Amino acid sequence: MGMRYLYEGAARFVVDDSVFYNPYARFSRSLGIPVLVCEAKLRGRDIVVGDVMAATGVRGIRYYLESASVSEVWFNDRSRAAYENIRRNVVDNGVRAKVFNLDVRSFLFSDGLYRLDFIDLDPFGSPAPYIDALVSSVRKGGLVAITATDLTALCGLYPSAAFRKYASLVRKTWFCHEAALRILIKSVLDSAGRHGRYIKPVLSVFSEQYARIYVRVFEGRLRFPYEYIGYIILSGDKVNVYSLMRLGEGLHIPSGSIILGPLWIGPLHDKEFIRMILDGELYNYILVGEDRDRAKELFNILMEEADFPPYYFDLHAICSRLRRSPPRLKVVMDRLVELGYRVGRTHFSPYGFKSDCSLDVLMKVLRSLPR
Ligand SMILES: C[S@@+](CC[C@H](N)C(=O)[O-])C[C@H]1O[C@@H](n2cnc3c(N)ncnc32)[C@H](O)[C@@H]1O
Repeated sequence: MGMRYLYEGAARFVVDDSVFYNPYARFSRSLGIPVLVCEAKLRGRDIVVGDVMAATGVRGIRYYLESASVSEVWFNDRSRAAYENIRRNVVDNGVRAKVFNLDVRSFLFSDGLYRLDFIDLDPFGSPAPYIDALVSSVRKGGLVAITATDLTALCGLYPSAAFRKYASLVRKTWFCHEAALRILIKSVLDSAGRHGRYIKPVLSVFSEQYARIYVRVFEGRLRFPYEYIGYIILSGDKVNVYSLMRLGEGLHIPSGSIILGPLWIGPLHDKEFIRMILDGELYNYILVGEDRDRAKELFNILMEEADFPPYYFDLHAICSRLRRSPPRLKVVMDRLVELGYRVGRTHFSPYGFKSDCSLDVLMKVLRSLPR
């Protein structure tokens, strides 16, 4: 049986040929490190982390070694080869750990139940089958990080798959990347509600390969964020956002509209949390230099995009509706500011931006700019 020896951040580890390791997910692992450091600072103590679909264990190992904020990592993988691989890697890296070889749902409802402060769920494809176990078993007030790679469903290429897995209507739009995160968050909230819990997003990130959300899970019913579940409806030159609880008030859906939802229409990020990461320069805990710089830039953009309507504009997509070539992004953003609107960058697209202007105002601005 073949083995490879690899380095990533502070981890030196072995990858058995039959165990999964994706070098392109390195940045997603790196980004978790400042999040853990921040979480431990907030709690005033080291935290217990679950790397519950761990494969080689590289994620949990890096969290332990680089954050210096983790008291123990509980690893799990249902594959026997992965389990053996993790056991070897945690010993080689001196990680304080427990290692399990169970289906993630059995693990979370047995040994893991209410013992983990932070659970990282990193499945192949959709996390949908595991969300109930995840949100009901994390310690109250804890964090869960969820990766989804079934982007064809979440971004609206296969709407029926999204409907089956997430119980939402999804269509491909220019802001589908943001809608993907919002649909995923809504389905986690649904699940939390079933268990007498509710959630608040801390950080939500989309990349070409995955959608990933960090949400805090609270106990109780009183603060359930009903108002943040809603629909985004695209009708001609208008994008309208409706809260599900107030659908009766003035809703008019012209035929031909594109309906997305129900989805999360509240904040995607906890600005206080990101502010703590930026002020404390906690991205410096990441040992991979390239990822450290990228994380710093990303946290800054997440701050910028935080206070806007639940969709962004993509200049290329909107200019192609107008059959014109796109002007420079900065020219458009400056013009909107002159007109009194707020604008901000977004991490969803290099040609994207956030604004509180309406789509028809933006189209007017684009029509008025020289070609
Ligand atoms: C995408 S890989 C995890 C990669 C890893 N977290 C990393 O960052 O390198 C998914 C892993 O989940 C495991 N897995 C799949 N379904 C599972 C289940 N139901 N319960 C536990 N583990 C499962 C697979 O064996 C595989 O090792």
